[in-house]
Amino acid sequence: NRILIMNGPNLNLLGSRQPEVYGATTLAMIEDACRAHGKAIGLAVSCLQSNHEGAMIDAVHAAKRSQDGLVINAGAYTHTSIALMDAVSSVELPLVEVHLSNIHAREEFRHRSYLAKVALGQICGFGAQGYILALDALKAHLEVT
Ligand code: DQA
Repeated sequence: NRILIMNGPNLNLLGSRQPEVYGATTLAMIEDACRAHGKAIGLAVSCLQSNHEGAMIDAVHAAKRSQDGLVINAGAYTHTSIALMDAVSSVELPLVEVHLSNIHAREEFRHRSYLAKVALGQICGFGAQGYILALDALKAHLEVT
């Protein structure tokens, strides 16, 4: 099975961006670890990062033809983007939502997630490990569907 891991705005800055909140691991390191873990459990992992809401929506549309599942950390668009939520419902691919930080333990405005409404589930608070957990969750889901 093929999985797209998509990271949204500001996540290209991982490693140097508020390391006390988001950790010291860079996005390139996370993506390498995901590709390696995917290979180990039989998932072909592709990775993409964008700071642009429309580009993320285009990528979700394109995934309908080329992917079997999605892992998305939409950054702040999580809390604002009805358009991204609608894109995910339109393509009917299983989604696992990831956040490095525990968004429920942070500011009120981070508690609401539009993406969670169309996700199988949400993994947050486990740092970079969350992406690996998301791949395991999708793998298990795809095996029973
Ligand atoms: C984040 C949490 C969001 O609230 C924030 O806007 C981000 C990163 C996380 O991974 O913890 O950009 O999605």
